Amino acid sequence: MKTLTSEKLTIVGAAGMIGSNMAQSAILMGLSSNICLYDPYAKGLEGVAEELLQCGFTGVNITYTSNIEEALKNSKYIITSGGAARKEGMTREDLLKGNAEIAIQFGKDVKKYCPDVKHVSVIFNPADITGLLVLLYSGLKPSQVSTLAALDSTRLRNELAKHFNLSPDKVINCRTYGGHGEQMAVFSSTATIDGNPLNELIGTSVLTDKQWQDMKERVIQGGKKIIELRGRSSFQSPAYLSLGMIRAVMGGDKFDWPVGVYLASSKEFPNIMMAMETSIDTNGVHYKEVEGTESERKDLRQSYIHLCELRDQLISSGVIPAVSEWNSINPNM
Ligand code: 2OP
Repeated sequence: MKTLTSEKLTIVGAAGMIGSNMAQSAILMGLSSNICLYDPYAKGLEGVAEELLQCGFTGVNITYTSNIEEALKNSKYIITSGGAARKEGMTREDLLKGNAEIAIQFGKDVKKYCPDVKHVSVIFNPADITGLLVLLYSGLKPSQVSTLAALDSTRLRNELAKHFNLSPDKVINCRTYGGHGEQMAVFSSTATIDGNPLNELIGTSVLTDKQWQDMKERVIQGGKKIIELRGRSSFQSPAYLSLGMIRAVMGGDKFDWPVGVYLASSKEFPNIMMAMETSIDTNGVHYKEVEGTESERKDLRQSYIHLCELRDQLISSGVIPAVSEWNSINPNM
């Protein structure tokens, strides 16, 4: 099998549903010929590894370990879904405290065992905050750490395609920005439906204001809906999308969706990680400021404020230091 790279790709949380799906998809997508699976749950990890080895893939070296040093050593690309997953009745934010500690430890492990890693994608919830913590404690540059946000934009595309009974291919440039949580900003001004600007359709008989409001709510609650349908948190879509991000960093196909990124030089949204209009290349993730209508920008601002509140809960409970001290932990911030 021809792969994009032979550099080590480590999948953290590989015994879980996202991680195991990611491991298999990474092989099928031809990302790396050197894939290492890590999970502290050794038995489940062995099960995942055995299954993959029994697939009979060729040209890929699959290793697995419950030793974090071994997993991260010489790793150039990492995707981590290694936090607790959301269960029925929980919001993504309910995972804050427990997963924050996991993210902090993981960031420290990256710093200790693989400071030369090229890119880390963080996809456990609340992803904007866990990604921020990994960046803070890993000492990496903001362009080297990304989080999964695309799933909200792809959900918007799906909702619009279903509503208009069109192929999703005809629904172009759907975007949500801000947090991947209870207060994301679902944009309408970027998208076109079969060539027509979405904004020109909203408020007409084909998509009433009420239908659009309901649709935005379905996008925001898209993860909850999957939990209701499947009895477990989504795993196929986050796995595939996060691999798409890593593929772009490896120099493969372009990644067309917004990515969660630390807004290093943002005047309006400082000291937070969240989805912006982004591009990914072999130097990592880059962003530009989002344009939009006044009401969209208001939603984005609200989303930013909500993320700041989550971050500040961690600061006031002593889990992380005040923003003014971040630079002494990671000089790139
Ligand atoms: C979702 O939205 C798990 O956050 C993920 O489905």
